[in-house]
Amino acid sequence: MPPFTKSDLIWFNGELTRWDDARVHVSAHALQYGTGVFEGMRSYDTADGPAIFRLDAHMRRFAASASYYEIEWPYSFEQLCAASLDVIRANSLDNAYLRPLAFFDSYSFNVWPKGCPVSVAIIAVPGRPYIQGGPERGVRVTVSSVRRIDAASLPPFVKACGHYTNSVRAVQEANRRGFDDALLLNYKGEVAEGSGANLFLVKDGRVITNDADASIVLGITRDSVLQIASDLGVPVDVRSLTLDDIAGADEAFFTGTAIEVTPITEVDGRPVGAGKPGPITLRIQQSYFGAVHGRLPQYHTWLAYTRQMQTV
Ligand SMILES: Cc1ncc(COP(=O)(O)O)c(C=O)c1O
Repeated sequence: MPPFTKSDLIWFNGELTRWDDARVHVSAHALQYGTGVFEGMRSYDTADGPAIFRLDAHMRRFAASASYYEIEWPYSFEQLCAASLDVIRANSLDNAYLRPLAFFDSYSFNVWPKGCPVSVAIIAVPGRPYIQGGPERGVRVTVSSVRRIDAASLPPFVKACGHYTNSVRAVQEANRRGFDDALLLNYKGEVAEGSGANLFLVKDGRVITNDADASIVLGITRDSVLQIASDLGVPVDVRSLTLDDIAGADEAFFTGTAIEVTPITEVDGRPVGAGKPGPITLRIQQSYFGAVHGRLPQYHTWLAYTRQMQTV
């Protein structure tokens, strides 16, 4: 897997800072204890210039994650949205991956982060597929022995840095087993989601996905796909998912900002449906790519254009 491509400038604590100067001390609380929160967003080229997809929803979730961990910053919602658009413009990017990050910085080794300053960064790098060729040919996944974090210990819906050691373990195991990604079960033994993506199944022409009570991150792509499916006239069921549901599914796919809409063709050596990207998955994927690239007027309100400084 290739590394990210560095860009020139990072928005760091209120200023556009050169990539090499956006540094953090090794004693930072977040490095010691995982006390940061983050988002993953993408911008796409459109006929009206680059636009960030669902910037508003991402920034709302970012603020909600921060609030959960009592991370407070001196920036307004509008300032962080404007900063995200600035980073795209300043680096002359179009299709980009953005990583807003807020964390407790260097001050104390106490677990309680009282007194730690908060740092906020928005990084943007050139975008590329999360799994090369995944959206076209589909991905192969394994059911992980690692269970998805449970609300009894950590809030699964919060995108906190420390929570992702859960996904790291699952994806490392999947890789060792020779698969592209993992499917994590929750503590109830139902299927939760991928290491960084939500799961959708298709059965008898209906689209099915699970909900917050399955210990998932409530994905913004998931929300977009639910809207797209209903606009395409595909009936949607939101309910818990089991391994038997997958075994009987006609199609399956992942949704996520990074992985976009990617078919799942195989689970632990067993083909899903016909073992290739299915027709409903491909229709939804086509609309999704149409929406993010601004080709479908009904979804224009999901785009925040860098040229207009408008945040929607
Ligand atoms: C664990 C997990 N589930 C699901 C998602 C999908 O969320 P979204 O569609 O908002 O990117 C992500 C990515 O943020 C994730 O990390």
